[in-house]
Amino acid sequence: MSRVPVRPSARLPGALERYKVRSVSEEAARDGTRRLVVNGRAVTVRADRLEPLASVLRDQLGLTATKVACGRGECGACTVLIGGRPRMACVTPAALVDEPVETGEGLAEESAALRERFADSGAFQCGFCTPGQVVHATALLREDLARADAGMGAAARRERVRHALSGNICRCTGYQAIVDSVCAVAEEQAGPDR
Ligand code: FES
Ligand code: FES
Repeated sequence: MSRVPVRPSARLPGALERYKVRSVSEEAARDGTRRLVVNGRAVTVRADRLEPLASVLRDQLGLTATKVACGRGECGACTVLIGGRPRMACVTPAALVDEPVETGEGLAEESAALRERFADSGAFQCGFCTPGQVVHATALLREDLARADAGMGAAARRERVRHALSGNICRCTGYQAIVDSVCAVAEEQAGPDR
């Protein structure tokens, strides 16, 4: 099977390096359409060759919560969940996606407490990076629910949140309020007895 390079390798900060898709099979892209499950709904989209998932979501499905800033896998603004894992939709060919996709719209209910915290604590200024931050943090909070029994301490949780979100770049908040917000919701979820 021959492989087609998506784009030159770009350096990614922090934890998002491992999320980058590096190649796409010609067979996967040949048909020109793709069946996707997006926010629990089965859809058929045009996904010619290297069409980025971000473009499909925004331009074909009207799911504009997914933002495109750098467009080359460096900032995390376009983060969506694929199979429950954070992925950068601007460098993910839709033709390669074979697991359910969740966007900010589909995560609206689940992320309500998080978004409220962001708003209350001033965890954003321009807000362009915020949807990607919230999507990524929602995935982290799912992990925290499962890990709460392991007795993770507040300092360890804070470090994990900071590291995980290091690939979601924000140029105006200094990150403190973002990390505070995610940790506060994680602690609420863990409950007083954990
Ligand atoms: S817009 Fe996708 S990583 Fe920046
Ligand atoms: S709030 Fe993230 S770049 Fe401004």
